[in-house]
This record gives sequence, structure tokens and C-alpha cells, in this order.
Amino acid sequence: MEGMLKPGSFNNKTIIITGGGTGLGRSIGKYLLQLGANLVIASRKKEVIDKTAAELTQETKGNVLAVPCDVRKYEDIVAVIKEAENRFGKIDAVLNNAAGNFISPTERLSHRAFDIVVDIVLRGTYYTTLAAGKNWIEKKQAGTFLNIVTTYSWTGSGYVVPSACGKAGVLALTRSLAVEWAKYNIRSNAIAPGPFPTEGAWSRLLPGDLAKKFDPAKRIPLGRVGEHQELANLAAYLLSDYSAYVNGEVITIDGGEWLKSGGEFSHLEMIPNEMWDMLEKMRGK
Ligand code: HXC
Ligand code: NAP
Repeated sequence: MEGMLKPGSFNNKTIIITGGGTGLGRSIGKYLLQLGANLVIASRKKEVIDKTAAELTQETKGNVLAVPCDVRKYEDIVAVIKEAENRFGKIDAVLNNAAGNFISPTERLSHRAFDIVVDIVLRGTYYTTLAAGKNWIEKKQAGTFLNIVTTYSWTGSGYVVPSACGKAGVLALTRSLAVEWAKYNIRSNAIAPGPFPTEGAWSRLLPGDLAKKFDPAKRIPLGRVGEHQELANLAAYLLSDYSAYVNGEVITIDGGEWLKSGGEFSHLEMIPNEMWDMLEKMRGK
């Protein structure tokens, strides 16, 4: 649960985190500040990002800029980039972390409910990526994208279909641009986290007493949910120059969760030891 990178690994680096005022974006941002980064956090709720910026500045003594931004509005993102450059000179990396999600049977969704999630997740990520990428290419600067997806980006998942569609698109964007923009020295990678408790995710994906009924830890081979610092360590590595040769990768950090759900015989964990003993005897051991 400790920080992994060398102190000062992000000195003179500026990182933009969309949705950096809460949850995982906030935890990753805090760690980057501790490693010396200048941090730019951007999301819709000004009061939330202003409060986070004040708290993180106090906790880390680092430089934090909060810029209100709706990632569905291209001009908002251009304004974030401009403000970040005015304050810190240049931008080194972008963490596409902003998202929207909720559970629902798909047939109960209005078309607007579908739009709202796909627009935040996919449109928001490609607008941010396009604006930041064009800026780096025009200025002949290197840059790094890190996109937060989910493990259902490749399997799909019922009951979160708009999110699954959006995240699958983000994964395609990550892999496509890893190849196309490598010639500009722009890398693109992704992280697919399993369950990491946050107020934003838990309140929308496990509302009411669902968290008790469907304790996510029980689905996970390692028997626990993720710790924010574990994710922050991975994100910091992928945003840093230590990962300079990693490009187009998606790294899963889920305690083995998604593989288990696909394993033909994984449910055999329900068999108690005594039954295994009996089965062994039956085959003559
Ligand atoms: C069905 C819903 C709904 C719900 C909203 N809608 N919530 N439909 N079930 N629970 C519908 C509304 O009826 C409306 O459609 C449309 O969606 C827009 O709703 P608004 O409330 O007006 O939208 P808005 O205020 O912009 O809020 C956006 C939001 C909200 C996505 C609905 O949840 C949000 O702000 N989320 C941001 C943070 C977030 O979601 N974090 C969790 C990420 S977790 P109509 O037709 O009525 O107008 C994550 C983890 C994945 O991604 C993996 C975990 C392991
Ligand atoms: P969270 O705290 O709700 O974070 C989502 C952030 O996105 C919020 O800060 C929100 O801020 C911002 N956002 C939403 N709509 C936006 C918009 N239109 N423009 C700009 N910002 C917007 O939830 P979280 O759990 O930390 O999730 C962070 C990321 O991790 C997401 O990409 C999520 O899909 C991913 N993830 C989480 C888990 C998990 O278990 N927690 C697992 C897998 C993947 P505003 O409301 O102020 O705009």
C-alpha cells in the first residue's frame, strides 16, 4: 500500500486528470503530486474540484489547478489545456478518467439515459484526446495518454450496457492511436480496474443494500477489493517515463476477477476439501 516510484519522478511534469476531483482520479492525482507533478483537475462541479484542489495543496504542498469542464464540450477542454499551459508552461500527460455509469435493465433505459453515459465516457474521452493530441502535435511535444476503462470493455456486461459500449470505444481509441500517433512520440495506454470502492461507483452500481447482497470481494479470487494506492502506483508508472516503451497496452488490476467469471470450471471452488478427498479416493489415490 506504499508509493512505488522514486521521489521526484514527476518533477516538472504537468498532468491533466479529467474527473480528478473525486474517487480514483483524486487518489491518483494525490500520488502524482507527492511525486512532484503539477496537477490539473477538470470536471463539471466547480465547488467539488475547488475543494479538492485546496485539500490536496494543503496535504502535499504541490501545485494544483482546478478548471471547471464538461468533457462533452470540446471548447471546455481547449480552455483547460490553455489554462494549464498558461499556469505550468506545458502539458506532459492526460489521464482520461471522467465517466458516468448506473445499473439498469437496458429495456428500461430512455435513449437519453444511453446518450448521457456514452457521451461522457466515449465522446468525452475522444474530445479530450483530440484536443490534447492536436496541441502536442502542433507544438512537436511528446505526450502520454492513460485511459481508465473496465474489464467489461472486452467482455461486455449486462445491466451497464451504455458504459460497456462507451468503454469498448475508449479501448479501441487507445489501441488505434498507440499505433497512429507513436510517430509523434505520443503513447496511449489503458488501465482496466476491477472493483475499487469509491462513493461515485458504489452509490450508482451497488445502491441500497446491493453492496451487502453482492459483496464484490466474494467474486474476486484474491478475496478483496482494490486499494487506491495500488491503482495509483500502476497509473503513475504508465504516466511516467519509466514506461516509455509501453504503448497500446491495457493492464488489468482486478485480483483475477474477470478471468474467473470466464473460467469453465472456476465454480468448482464450491467443492469442499472433503469432497476432493472423496474424489481422489474414487480415482484410486
Ligand atoms: C436509469 C437513469 C439513471 C438510472 C439517470 N438516468 N440515472 N436511468 N437509471 N440510475 C437517466 C435520466 O432519467 C435521464 O434520462 C438521463 O439519464 C440523464 O439523467 P440526469 O440525471 O439528468 O443526468 P446528469 O445529471 O448529467 O448525471 C449524469 C449521470 C450521473 C451519468 C446520470 O450518474 C453522474 O453524474 N455520474 C458521474 C459519476 C459516475 O457515474 N461515477 C461512477 C463511475 S463508476 P431522461 O430520459 O429521463 O431524460 C464506473 C465503474 C465501472 O464507471 C466498473 C466497476 C467495477
Ligand atoms: P467517480 O468518483 O464518480 O468519478 C467520476 C468523475 O467523472 C467525477 O469526478 C465526475 O465529476 C467526472 N465527470 C462525470 N461526468 C463528467 C463530465 N461530463 N465532464 C467532466 N467530468 C465528468 O467514480 P470513480 O469510481 O472514481 O471512477 C473513476 C474512473 O474509474 C471512471 O472512468 C470509472 O469508469 C473507472 N472505474 C472505476 C471502478 C471502480 O470500482 N471505482 C472500476 C472500474 C473502472 P463531476 O460530477 O464534477 O463532473
